Amino acid sequence: MNNIQKVAIIGCGFVGSSIAFTLMQSGTFSELLLIDANHQRAEGEAMDLSHGLPFAHPMDIRAGSYDDIADCALVIVTAGAGQKPGETRLDLVHKNVEIFKSIIPEVARRNPNAILLIVSNPVDVLTYAAWKLSGYPANRVLGSGTVLDTARLKYLLGERLQVDSRSVHAVIIGEHGDSELAVWSGANVSGVPLDHFCELRGFYDHDKADEWLHREVRDSAYEIIRRKGATYYGVAMAVKRIVHAIVRDEHSVLPVSNLVQGQYGIENLCMSVPAIVGRNGVETTLEIPLAEEEHRALAASAQTLQQVIQSLDL
Ligand code: 2OP
Repeated sequence: MNNIQKVAIIGCGFVGSSIAFTLMQSGTFSELLLIDANHQRAEGEAMDLSHGLPFAHPMDIRAGSYDDIADCALVIVTAGAGQKPGETRLDLVHKNVEIFKSIIPEVARRNPNAILLIVSNPVDVLTYAAWKLSGYPANRVLGSGTVLDTARLKYLLGERLQVDSRSVHAVIIGEHGDSELAVWSGANVSGVPLDHFCELRGFYDHDKADEWLHREVRDSAYEIIRRKGATYYGVAMAVKRIVHAIVRDEHSVLPVSNLVQGQYGIENLCMSVPAIVGRNGVETTLEIPLAEEEHRALAASAQTLQQVIQSLDL
């Protein structure tokens, strides 16, 4: 029987430890298990995080091994190489698929019932690989996908329009990477169509703004990596959001990376399209209305991912 209050994080680099820090503060779990190829690193993180517990909520944070995963309801995977300056996420694929081949079967062997939340990049390809390697049903394997890119878009729009970013409803879909796209056709601020809202705030050149925003969002990670070597706080908050949707059974609509099987005319790959996320992972993959050019961009994004997936031996 899985313990819904126990979460494991595999990979304790910047991303894994930032996720651990946000989850520790959230009060959602009573047990947090940290696993890393470098066990001492996991131990160090567990010690450091535990010393913050008197300021947070009582819980057990410790370094462990795959055997300790047996009763975890949720396993978050951040292991693998990260992007270096100038590298794309897809450049990491062969290295990180090999790492997944050593991790995912170990997890699945000990715990056939967990939910796998993949964060390592390229997240869409690795979510697909994790689905294949685990033998889990597709609803229990999802990736952080473009939840972060969507947050970046909301943040930028909020700044530009001087409005709370939580009132902005807009979504980035497709690959979490260079071929992603914004769904401008459905974007709105608290129900007011985005273009209309922009005009209320004195902005009229919509096409130019859309192009700039898309570029800023798409290139955010490159810009951060160029400056500080890695990204981790934004993704940690995005993961916390997904984790809450799962553990609290929130039925939230989130653009997680999930298996697309026929929706949007796309077959058999993982990419971000809005899905309803709850206790069972992905409950439903939604087929939202798209403008014609958005359809085309999504198909092109899918093709990019499909070519990478076909080059893999899974
Ligand atoms: C990010 O978008 C690198 O995928 C990571 O921040």
